Amino acid sequence: MEILVQQGDLAQTACDVLIVNLFEGITAPGGATGAVDRALGGWLSAQLTEQQFTGKAGTVLEFPTFGKIPAKRVLVVGLGKAADFSLDGVRRAAGTAITAAKKAKAATVATLLHGAGIAGLPAAGCAQALAEGTLMGGYVFEKYKSVDPNEPKPVIARVLVVEHTADKIPEVQRGVARGVLIAEAVNLARDLSNEPPDVVTPVFLADTATRIAAQYDLQCEIWGTERIVEERMNCLFMVGRGSVHPPRFIRLDYVPAGTPRARICVIGKGLCYDSGGLSLKPAEFMKHMKTDMSGAADVLALMQIIGQLRPDVAVTGMVPACENMISGNAYKVDDVLRARNGKTIEIDNTDAEGRLVLADALSLAAEEDFDAVIDLATLTGACVIALARIWTGVMGTDEALKDALLTAGAAVGEKMWKLPFDKEIRDMLDSDLADIKNAGGREGGAIAGGIFLKEFAGDHPWAHLDIAGTSYIDKPRPYEPKGATGVPVRTLVEFILTR
Ligand code: BES
Ligand code: MN
Ligand code: ZN
Repeated sequence: MEILVQQGDLAQTACDVLIVNLFEGITAPGGATGAVDRALGGWLSAQLTEQQFTGKAGTVLEFPTFGKIPAKRVLVVGLGKAADFSLDGVRRAAGTAITAAKKAKAATVATLLHGAGIAGLPAAGCAQALAEGTLMGGYVFEKYKSVDPNEPKPVIARVLVVEHTADKIPEVQRGVARGVLIAEAVNLARDLSNEPPDVVTPVFLADTATRIAAQYDLQCEIWGTERIVEERMNCLFMVGRGSVHPPRFIRLDYVPAGTPRARICVIGKGLCYDSGGLSLKPAEFMKHMKTDMSGAADVLALMQIIGQLRPDVAVTGMVPACENMISGNAYKVDDVLRARNGKTIEIDNTDAEGRLVLADALSLAAEEDFDAVIDLATLTGACVIALARIWTGVMGTDEALKDALLTAGAAVGEKMWKLPFDKEIRDMLDSDLADIKNAGGREGGAIAGGIFLKEFAGDHPWAHLDIAGTSYIDKPRPYEPKGATGVPVRTLVEFILTR
């Protein structure tokens, strides 16, 4: 799908579906929607009454034009109440509209720029949100479905963003270009998570990183099994030992031209499959564990965006990648592992594997002087229970860093919530045998996971994002089809750019 910015009159634009909008409670549409109504001789407002369309957010009204204007059909998308409207409203409207346009089998879609009219939001921001909502909402993962030659899947070839004022065109173009590159990376993260686990192996993730580095001018380093052992990344080695797919440790570095304003490290959990290991998951809990590398996918997507936007902040992406499987060679409950920072870990449950591979990566990051280290992990089922699939759980040692992440999330429509983070919970992880054990029962499970990680995070500001709930949804949302969401890639972009 291609997004093109055009200067001109929306009402006179030829297309299959023409997208306009309406705030809730408005009966006499203004702006570009009003202009389309006038070109139709009042047919649009007549349809609003006829079909009792109120402009509620997430609803659409569609009708044919019978040749009164060049567009074949008009689609009015409801924006909800004007008082509640924000840039995320633009994204949601675009997602809702593109989904409806696809159902209408449109090849060419023309749209007004939601939000830039009476809502008065800045045109560049609206254009970015429009592009993001369109491409993220139009995302499908259907490569494994056979195509019926008699009923080819409708594909939207192009979306024309039509703007009347010539002066605004450069701004709109800039916004669309940024939105496109961000949405394409989010969709890459979704692809990586949605792909079956026999495709997305640690080696596949490493190859993807290599490709991104070459394409977007990043430094890239990949460690195989031997180097992982040499580097004392023993937890990564041991968790991955039961799999026929060898582990990889992936590192991407973006170094800006001048002196960086800050150095940020982002670490993504890369469990290409989490069967639970010898503490095997019951069948119903194993479903979707191909997405246990979502943190890794997000880090790769983020690095692809950073490589294109090239801010004056240095960004390092790290991914410990492996599979948690059963075999004669698998690590066991009762094993004791020594992490890279020297601490010993008694294995209480082989299914608490994410924190182990992160322990090594966090130890490595702690050896360098990053201004902030952020890990992203589908770490605990407990976080899904606590915060549903709505909020990402935010933990860590630095309140300012956590607040900055919450603010960035709110700005881009990705919800985050701080969980209490107190050493009182550390007792649950006391081991008779080693410095710490990797699991301590079900109570406060999400926080216990975070507290475990803290032992390896060193002294610099660190935050842990538990994305077990938010990285995957089973009911679609306006710009998030069901499946992998790519959350919180856009939050991290916002966080880095506003740093
Ligand atoms: N990958 C899972 C967490 C998970 C659960 C992600 C559901 C997405 C959806 C993680 O490795 C895990 O198994 N965690 C255990 C920890 C426990 C053994 C302390 C859990 O949550 O049960
Ligand atoms: Mn697990
Ligand atoms: Zn896991």
